[in-house]
Amino acid sequence: MNVFASQWGEYHSEDDLRQFFARINCRTTAVLPIGQGSNLLFTKNFEGIILHSQMRKLHIVDETADYCLLRVESGVVWDDFCGLTVNMGLYGAENLSLIPGEVGAAAVQNIGAYGVEVKDLIMQVETIDRLSGATHIFSQVDCDYGYRHSIFKGSLKDRYIITAVVFRLSKTPCLRLDYGDLWQRAGKNPTASDVRRAVITIRRSKLPDPALWGNAGSFFKNPVIELAHFETLVHTYPDLPHFFADDNHVKIPAAWLIERCALKGKRIGGAAVYEHQPLVIVNCGDATPNDVVELSQLIRERVAAKFRIDLVPEVCFI
Ligand code: EPU
Repeated sequence: MNVFASQWGEYHSEDDLRQFFARINCRTTAVLPIGQGSNLLFTKNFEGIILHSQMRKLHIVDETADYCLLRVESGVVWDDFCGLTVNMGLYGAENLSLIPGEVGAAAVQNIGAYGVEVKDLIMQVETIDRLSGATHIFSQVDCDYGYRHSIFKGSLKDRYIITAVVFRLSKTPCLRLDYGDLWQRAGKNPTASDVRRAVITIRRSKLPDPALWGNAGSFFKNPVIELAHFETLVHTYPDLPHFFADDNHVKIPAAWLIERCALKGKRIGGAAVYEHQPLVIVNCGDATPNDVVELSQLIRERVAAKFRIDLVPEVCFI
């Protein structure tokens, strides 16, 4: 089902953005900056202005024998950036290959895959303050990064628009191959390019292509639960997969919880739990926003009833 926004605006520079915010009243006009919208679920028409970055420049700001600092504007397609760094012989972004979206949104969402999060590569984030039009540069620490979290989704939500990100990539090999069977797939003595190829193969085999089947990747975050709760659960489900987050908290794969609720393939209207990766909800072609919302609620209810775990959506509902 199609939904509509009142207006769509594109900006090519920081000055474009400043002029835009000088013209509109931020307190009365809803403005939603988006990348490719790959993590958004529009539940109804958007009564406001959607802003999309057309800023796509990229240049080296500094380099040594060990590393290279790249300033990348917000509208660069994330996977183009990954491909480019690998072609430049730089290490760091290869595990994040093929994640949909653009650079600005990646820094908001702290995208992650195969043991790497984008925060591990970020040096600073350049923004424009919607209220004053001033440039504000956040250091990586200022961004308050956590699992699929940043200050731009938290206490400073709706305040700053990201215009560029400075990444630090390594010139010397520093691969992360310890997630699942990535090390096997990447082959012997892999280069960043081998790892990128392996990640792309794994993602294509597990995740539906958003160009063919509308989807937002993982619909929920993997829950982090108290150790005591985990100990009770593992007593009942000895095969419960888990990763220790710290001494008192354990991360559980949401996909396993959903599968154990026998929800693989479950369909409401045109929305379905993806058979090969139940953390993903796919649009089978004719889903309404309501189908997706209802299916996600059903998943939450079933998982909460069986495991006493509240799944938190990773997808943003608009
Ligand atoms: N699992 C099942 N059944 C399945 C699939 C998976 O039980 O059908 C369990 C298995 O125990 C498996 C575990 O889930 O070992 C983890 O599965 P997977 O490696 O596919 O990763 P995930 O935890 O489900 C996370 C990210 C993905 C990212 C992958 C790889 C979140 C919310 N999701 O998924 O990110 O690609 O790890 O690093 O953290 C995204 O955010 O959109 C996204 C796709």
